[in-house]
Amino acid sequence: MKRIFSGMQPTGQLHLGNYFGALKNWVQLQDSYECFYGIVDLHALTTAYDSSDTVADAVIAVAADWLSAGLDPEKSVLFIQSHVQEHAELHLILSMITPIPWLERVPTYKEKQQELAGKDLSTYGFLGYPVLQTADIILYKAEVVPVGEDQVPHIELAREVTRRFNNYYGNIFPEPQTLLSSSPKLRGTDGRKMSKSYGNSIFMAEDPAELDRKVRKMMTDPRRKRRSDPGGPEDCPVFDLHKVFTEPEKREEVAHLCRTAGWGCLDCKQVLLDRMHPVMDPMKRRRDELLMHPDRILAVLHQGADRARRVARQTMEQVRAAIGLLKA
Ligand code: TRP
Repeated sequence: MKRIFSGMQPTGQLHLGNYFGALKNWVQLQDSYECFYGIVDLHALTTAYDSSDTVADAVIAVAADWLSAGLDPEKSVLFIQSHVQEHAELHLILSMITPIPWLERVPTYKEKQQELAGKDLSTYGFLGYPVLQTADIILYKAEVVPVGEDQVPHIELAREVTRRFNNYYGNIFPEPQTLLSSSPKLRGTDGRKMSKSYGNSIFMAEDPAELDRKVRKMMTDPRRKRRSDPGGPEDCPVFDLHKVFTEPEKREEVAHLCRTAGWGCLDCKQVLLDRMHPVMDPMKRRRDELLMHPDRILAVLHQGADRARRVARQTMEQVRAAIGLLKA
């Protein structure tokens, strides 16, 4: 089986965008690949260096969502990045061979600085974010990296840095390939991109009553002011959810009833809710059970780190020898 690495930042409770954009795909990949999945807390510090005390809780919240969604520690290696110190060491070594202009050219570098304009992101660590990501991947010699569209430039950079390493020190690493998880973009309850910072998220582990409330209040196509106004499903964030929850035949009917003003938005939302609850309520229940024992979640992650470390140590022995560092 080919090996996969992917990582997720500890943002806290995950929303449906995280689930359909990444997690659901990761769960499916477990049966056809050897999967290493890391909660990348060191990456979180590139922006949360001034609020680092929030990271630990966010890690546990993400881990609970991972397990409740079906990531299985029997099948995959699930761990916290900072528990495997080899990530930091390989990051350091890769930083020696990564030209700064390569990093300045990564589009997310300037984009993120603009997005978080109030925050000082002129740090060494933030510039090196994609170098740390490269280390994550090649530490396990992963050949395949499942990511969303936004991460493609990072994987491109990872390939370039890997090639450079192999040129200087010998062919140690496979060049990682992007596996695009192409899922429809989900807009949040206000019609903007679903994002925790906008407060427009529907969480994976939403309380059932709260789920009803959020969906019923959700914005719809603004052209449908009255029940008699025809709507455009493509312009409606509720229809985004139908795309991931509703079976194709029914979805066609939903779209038709919208375009012809054949029903009201609340009718449409009820059809959606009838499909969301059977998927989401069991995840919510599993998550609640897991969070009654955070120590068990941590134990799973510690076991994962032990497995990851065994691979990471071997890689680093090879790396040190290839560079010619003296043995300790
Ligand atoms: N940068 C990725 C994100 O924000 C997270 C990540 C860190 C990652 N290391 C990785 C993804 C390695 C894939 C492979 O989504």
